[in-house]
Amino acid sequence: MNYSKLTNDDILFFRNQIGNDYVFLDENILNDYSHDETEDLKFLPQIVLKPYNTAQVSIIMIYCNKRNIPVTPCGARTGLSGGSLPIFGGVALSLENFNKIIQIDEKNLQATVEPGVINQVFRDFVEQKNLFYPPDPASKGSSFLGGNLAENSGGPKALKYGVTKDYVLNLEVVLATGEAIWTGANVLKNSTGYDLTSLMIGSEGTLGIITKIVFKLIPLPTKDITMLVPFKSAEKACEAVSAIFMKGITPSALEFIERDAIDWTLKYSDIKMDIKEDIQAHLLIEVDGNDLDDLFSDCEKISNVLYDFECGEILLAESKEQKDRLWRLRRMVGEAVKSNSIYKEEDTVVPRAELANLLTGVKKIGEEYGFKSVCYGHAGDGNLHINIIKGGMSDQKWDLEIKDAIREIFILTKKLGGTISGEHGIGFVQKDYIDIVFSNKEIELQKGIKNLFDPKNILNPGKIFN
Ligand code: LAC
Ligand code: ZN
Repeated sequence: MNYSKLTNDDILFFRNQIGNDYVFLDENILNDYSHDETEDLKFLPQIVLKPYNTAQVSIIMIYCNKRNIPVTPCGARTGLSGGSLPIFGGVALSLENFNKIIQIDEKNLQATVEPGVINQVFRDFVEQKNLFYPPDPASKGSSFLGGNLAENSGGPKALKYGVTKDYVLNLEVVLATGEAIWTGANVLKNSTGYDLTSLMIGSEGTLGIITKIVFKLIPLPTKDITMLVPFKSAEKACEAVSAIFMKGITPSALEFIERDAIDWTLKYSDIKMDIKEDIQAHLLIEVDGNDLDDLFSDCEKISNVLYDFECGEILLAESKEQKDRLWRLRRMVGEAVKSNSIYKEEDTVVPRAELANLLTGVKKIGEEYGFKSVCYGHAGDGNLHINIIKGGMSDQKWDLEIKDAIREIFILTKKLGGTISGEHGIGFVQKDYIDIVFSNKEIELQKGIKNLFDPKNILNPGKIFN
């Protein structure tokens, strides 16, 4: 890729346009913006810009497009597929100053926000008005809504309520060529032309820079019950998942946690819990609604299904503290695994009834290649996070063979009717595997879209495709 290197004139231009205080060249800051939460990958940008309004983003894009300078949009850099890594240097464009909740429209159950608002800040804000923004990625305490949109994030509540894209009505986007557009309208139904809103969501900052978001909200459910269910067989735990839905129940969350994942997280955190020696996995299940009797009745029905799959003693968490502790534990799994060993995290998703087959297949591939895997994830969605652990494997074997093992896992996922990313995105680290799930024609169509939006390929280059 032939990109221009940043010159003193470029720096001067940025300083003049967005102000000295919003332009950063300091080594420490460049270093901060060289990585997200993906493995230990680092790519230094040449400059970090932190504009604070749409007009400034337009000016930056027009300039960089003319000068052929790559621009990598970034949020809180909590991503797990390398979506915000500045692979080709250039500008790291931080949206952190776009941090305003602009309006809550209570009459229409809508909110207009800027992309640099933290997910948790937004959900707390709307909860005060008895409104609910369901998408709840594990990173919700730090990740930005803009980043959630870029990767079409999910989280536990996606099971009942849907993923990020299901809550976006309209977007203000600055294109690679600098024009600002709105993608839709602030309405609940829209069959007016192509759906550019959906196209932007999950496009990982490769098609445009989101500068305003109009969300749809729903009424806040007032009650919930959480259950932690142990199993002696991880496969049986997975098999129980689809059986629950077949009884006509939709939990608000249904998470799978393998034994190692819970052990490592307990070790990593201050949370205490006794788990019997012979337990291989847990399901963490939540039901929510407004009528506690209905919820208890759902829990009873769920328990009856689970007993058929040989579960152990079910822990019903009723107090807020107990529930919070269980969910905090679940959200910490990713971090705990990361702190334990060099690893690669996959984000496979299959139709939920195939989950047990996926897990069995992953373990078999692990035996063939000699790696340990620690699995957890959103079982109700068939979304399994597979952590491939380097452990004692030699660097050489890790570098040479692990790609083949991942390829095998992805081929299996595809064979089971699934795909290679449910909620983390393709970004930088999965792009070599995109041929497993798309034909040449399908890739050509996607590249055609990229080319239409960003003819000079300056916007987050090196992501999704090679
Ligand atoms: C989780 C993140 C890794 O589910 O997606 O914890
Ligand atoms: Zn997840």
